[in-house]
Amino acid sequence: MKKNILTGDRPTGKLHIGHYVGTLASRLKLQEKGDYDDFFIMIADAQALTDNASNPKKIRDSIINVAIDYLSIGIDPKKVHIFVQSEISELTELTFYYANLVTVSRLERNPTVKQEIKSKEFGESIPVGFFTYPISQAADITAFKASIVPVGDDQLPMIEQTREIVRSFNRIYGDVLVLPNELLPDNKACFRLPGTDGNAKMSKSLGNCIYLSDSYEELKKKVMGMYTDPLHIKVEDPGHIEGNTVFAYLDAFSTSEDFAKYYPEFKNLDELKKAYEQGGIGDVKIKKFLLQILEDFLKPIREKREYYEKHLDEVYDILKEGTMYAQSIAKETLKEVKNAMKLNYFADKQLLDDFNCD
Ligand code: TRP
Repeated sequence: MKKNILTGDRPTGKLHIGHYVGTLASRLKLQEKGDYDDFFIMIADAQALTDNASNPKKIRDSIINVAIDYLSIGIDPKKVHIFVQSEISELTELTFYYANLVTVSRLERNPTVKQEIKSKEFGESIPVGFFTYPISQAADITAFKASIVPVGDDQLPMIEQTREIVRSFNRIYGDVLVLPNELLPDNKACFRLPGTDGNAKMSKSLGNCIYLSDSYEELKKKVMGMYTDPLHIKVEDPGHIEGNTVFAYLDAFSTSEDFAKYYPEFKNLDELKKAYEQGGIGDVKIKKFLLQILEDFLKPIREKREYYEKHLDEVYDILKEGTMYAQSIAKETLKEVKNAMKLNYFADKQLLDDFNCD
């Protein structure tokens, strides 16, 4: 069987370093390993519209930005098909059929959607499209027969929902769809990077994100203003690691090479943590260390971004080609799905062939 990978992002703004550690890094690893037949990265504009119906411009404007983010971190369009979700109308059709296999109460139990409904403050006005997006996500995954879906842990309920749909579909209509498995980042610290203000999540509306496209000046301002430990007032005071944003970021980004290069007093993060807890390490010092690490990380990304911003035609062609390829695959799957469901009336006079007067 073919081994396909699919994942995606909602284009609601530029991508940030939380996206990087949560999912983009593992995509790069997969790309380098090359152990797959087809690898798709989808810009989920249709899903983004499920809670942005009145703001289509935001979504439209983010498409190129997100594509440039992918290319800047090193996603190689020769190895990965980048495409735009709304261009694949087959996905909408699949969603419609899958919706029959899912109950309202099952959707109500989806913990990620529940959480999002709360945080987006929909109140009584939950858009049906938003409430049912796990079904459309099942269409995204199955249309490309993806067996591997690299995601952050918040997406686990979507994969579980997809697996349930696949099982139901295959049981009722025959073995057509492929059961997907999630692929989580291996560094646990990377599951979710907090915002620079210590908030559990980076979010554009909270203004607490470090973007992949941030300039050095922006980065510096954000890192030097990061939330640390409110009880660590004087340098000599013992500091706390738990809930300290700088350490959460160091967990995700620092390596022993960084210590050798920029902080040779310590061999690794564990040693630095111990010393910080004992007292005597100033917050400015650890922030400067983090700043150097993040700047080393962002500088080449920024440079690639500059290139693509000057060569937008290239980005456009990459998206168009990826989308055309994705379309051809989704079309095949939809055909198989409809055949399995016996929705093939006008292919080879099937409707008449199978007709039985009694
Ligand atoms: N829900 C994902 C997010 O919010 C985006 C997405 C849409 C996705 N379809 C997908 C991810 C299919 C993985 C597979 O980022």
